[in-house]
Amino acid sequence: MADSQDYDIVILGAGSGGYAAALRAAELGMTVALVEGDKLGGTCLHRGCIPTKALLHSAEVAEMVRHAGAVGVNGSLDGIDMAGVASFRDGVVGRLYQGLQGLVAARQVNLVHGWGRLVAPDAVEVDGVRYRGKHVILASGSRSKTLPGLEIGGRVITSEQALELDHVPASAIVLGGGVIGVEFASLWQSFGTAVTILEALPNLVPNEDVSVSKALERAFRKRKIAFHTGTRFAGVEQGAEGVTVRTEDGGTYTSEILLVAVGRAPMTEGLGYDEQGVRLERGYVRTDERLRTSVPGVYAVGDIVPGLQLAHRGFQQGIFVAEEIAGLKPAPVVESGIPRVTYCDPNVASVGLTHTQAVEALGEENVVTLEYNLGGNGKSQILQTGGFVKLVREKDGPIVGVHMLGDRLGELVGEGQLIVNWEAYPEDVAALLHAHPTQDEALGEAALALAGKPLHAHN
Ligand code: NAI
Repeated sequence: MADSQDYDIVILGAGSGGYAAALRAAELGMTVALVEGDKLGGTCLHRGCIPTKALLHSAEVAEMVRHAGAVGVNGSLDGIDMAGVASFRDGVVGRLYQGLQGLVAARQVNLVHGWGRLVAPDAVEVDGVRYRGKHVILASGSRSKTLPGLEIGGRVITSEQALELDHVPASAIVLGGGVIGVEFASLWQSFGTAVTILEALPNLVPNEDVSVSKALERAFRKRKIAFHTGTRFAGVEQGAEGVTVRTEDGGTYTSEILLVAVGRAPMTEGLGYDEQGVRLERGYVRTDERLRTSVPGVYAVGDIVPGLQLAHRGFQQGIFVAEEIAGLKPAPVVESGIPRVTYCDPNVASVGLTHTQAVEALGEENVVTLEYNLGGNGKSQILQTGGFVKLVREKDGPIVGVHMLGDRLGELVGEGQLIVNWEAYPEDVAALLHAHPTQDEALGEAALALAGKPLHAHN
């Protein structure tokens, strides 16, 4: 019989979902064991959001230097020092990691290092020690997926290896024009790589409103990022010279490396979930809206729960479950209200329903949309970015979707998120001031126009 320790909550996985649950539960006075085989912080902090956004910032600076002459600043881009880029990236990650370790220690969460396994509905075992919890939270996260016949190795890499490249590749094929695909395509192009994206569906970022997808395609064309939509992967060969991808339509593409960005799969295999009766569906953990699994006392949060695989969804679900266990009866996390930002150049940011989804939900005659072009926004002109803010509203009703494209517009998603989740009417937003000149004003202007009183836009 293994040694055993007892806690109020045992959490398997210390990524965004798991550590948020741990911190909130500890704050609420519960004892917590947080089990992690790799590093506290998980994918987002070490292999995902944070390091990629650091690289994208280096890419943004490269573009600024490259185009400095346009604003009267003399300068030239002499090259990209990948060792310098890596040390900037690692510095950001390192400081956040240190801060997070401090927080977990300060709240007296017991961080258990080692790979855990669910061995009973109320116990996780790590290296022969059983951590028993009155409640267990599964938060084991996700990993990069690949396709049949597409083995990762050599010149064929996932985002994990792409993040760690020690040089700027001369050329790259990006398989998948989703979130990871367009972010890497964007940053590599800024660093000087010749990029080609292959996407099976008819548009890049196919989950976004179609006018955003089309505008991103125009922007990428202008940036000379090659892409082929409606193009499915058929096979790959790699050799000393490079990697060649064949597509189902008979095309062949050759480059130095191939980034596979066709989605992320939940990590639920070999962890004892199904043996303990946790119901899985296509590898994901099935939960109800209160994030309860099929086993009483066992919850799941983050990327293993079907839906958007985003860190901030994980945080919110983790907080929700901790509060649920504490008996605070929190409101469930509403999937359609989760903000989404893709940090390519230009940014894509959205929350709520796309135009197509709104038409499906409400009927064509009950949907009104408005696009406000950044051409009328002073700050965007100063920053030399084009793009737009698109609002989707229910006729005579609230705004149900906010969709934006333009440099730095990711930072505006906070207001978009409040608008959609507070079910604001255009008149509500139009009555509130937006500082001038900011890019945020574009949201205010869009609401003014939708309320029938445009200022810097045509009727
Ligand atoms: P994704 O689901 O966004 O995109 C994968 C793309 O690959 C899809 O557009 C799909 O149509 C395409 N594809 C699939 N099979 C194909 C084939 N045989 N041939 C050609 N194309 C094919 O997944 P991605 O980009 O790998 O990202 C994974 C997850 O990570 C996403 O859920 C995303 O939310 C999250 N993430 C979020 C970020 C953010 O919020 N900024 C950044 C990076 C990742």
